Amino acid sequence: MARLRPLLAANWKMNGTRAALSEIVAIRDAVGPGRGGRAEVLICPPFTLLHAACDLCAGSGVQIGGQDCHEQPSGPFTGDTSAEMLKDAGAVAVIVGHSERRRLHGETDATVRAKADAAARAGLMAIICVGETRAEHDGGETLRVIGRQIDESVPPKSSGLGIALAYEPVWAIGTGLTPASADIEEVHAFMRRRLAALLSGEADKVRLIYGGSVKPDNAAEIAALPEVDGVLVGGASLKAEEFMGIVSVYL
Ligand code: PGA
Repeated sequence: MARLRPLLAANWKMNGTRAALSEIVAIRDAVGPGRGGRAEVLICPPFTLLHAACDLCAGSGVQIGGQDCHEQPSGPFTGDTSAEMLKDAGAVAVIVGHSERRRLHGETDATVRAKADAAARAGLMAIICVGETRAEHDGGETLRVIGRQIDESVPPKSSGLGIALAYEPVWAIGTGLTPASADIEEVHAFMRRRLAALLSGEADKVRLIYGGSVKPDNAAEIAALPEVDGVLVGGASLKAEEFMGIVSVYL
């Protein structure tokens, strides 16, 4: 089991209209009241559901986050949303640098770092995503790629509680494939060492979570890994029953 309080984050991506708020209500009711539980449960719905989700989850053990933010607080950036706006809507966290943003929106490590800086400025925790592609994995490049992404995407002044790092191998996202447990452990141990070089004492407080085809039937195995402090769940987080099949492993 993880040493740090586990972070269990749901990434809804571009899924969910108001009808899906009933899933958030069901998760809220299953998790129960109060923020002090054994794990931190965070749902990141699309922007359109943020306000409603925050209102529904006020005072409960479920917190709400965004999936992306712009690096500037406001201005002429049509279609973008700032970290300050997320905070104002009631969010406590934001995912930055998801591989879908890096790949489909051309986000670089420098962009991701600017977004993580923006999150800190607004008082949000940044969940910074890193992960290798299939080709990088097959080419034995995993640690080199993750090392570079950490060095260049993590703001060197981050506080340990102000960020979390999600290891999400691109080839494991939405594919039903996951790395062997020993490989997840190896990457997470490497991430901890790399963060220590960057953040010194603060590195020990940063949650290192795993994402990529986490499901109820592999959640217990992942939860048992000492280097893994929680999960980032995509597809299996959209239905309350399935997501609770993962969350309940930690409660
Ligand atoms: P998945 O997505 O759980 O559907 O594989 C995870 C993610 O992209 O965060």
